[in-house]
Amino acid sequence: MNIRNATIEDLLSIQHCNLTNLPENYQMKYYLYHALSWPQLTYVAEDHKGRIVGYVLAKLEEEQEKEPLHGHITSVSVMRKYRRLGLAEKLMAQSQRAMHEVFQAKYVSLHVRVSNKAALHLYKDTLHYEIMEIEKKYYADGEDAYSMKLFFDPSA
Ligand code: ACO
Repeated sequence: MNIRNATIEDLLSIQHCNLTNLPENYQMKYYLYHALSWPQLTYVAEDHKGRIVGYVLAKLEEEQEKEPLHGHITSVSVMRKYRRLGLAEKLMAQSQRAMHEVFQAKYVSLHVRVSNKAALHLYKDTLHYEIMEIEKKYYADGEDAYSMKLFFDPSA
């Protein structure tokens, strides 16, 4: 298993992985927007044959009123066969580090379905994100989201 920065050539595989794993899907132009604007923030996990088995797609929120510059995890997923190997934790850690070190982001935010036990464990228990609020009916099917943040250590 190898974790590396994503390139433009990876975007179709990332989109495939996203379509397989999540109901929140995006047009190719949205992937391109991420990869062209903040190439440092999106990472992939590949198997020994170079096949993409996981990704984290992330961006910077630069112009949000009253909020300091911060990162945002748009989407993360790992193909079923490759779960519980620590890949999502590593992907998230790499992206978070780049947000902090490259862009001096103050924190990273994300949304997650309140029913998503696996992702909640990853964010809350493994990576130590805090739940900030519940956003009612955030998802297209009416499910609520937890809005979560992880504040970076300013001395790190
Ligand atoms: N139930 C409970 N805990 C779990 C589960 C589970 N099903 N899956 C992983 N975990 C725990 C692990 O045990 C580990 O905990 P530990 O640090 O105490 O050992 C921690 O979560 C991290 O595990 P990883 O192996 O790094 O996670 P994995 O590579 O399996 O990926 C993910 C987790 C991304 C949530 C995966 O299950 C997945 O792709 N799910 C479908 C897509 C999804 O829900 N993505 C997140 C949507 S929210 C968003 O994108 C912002």
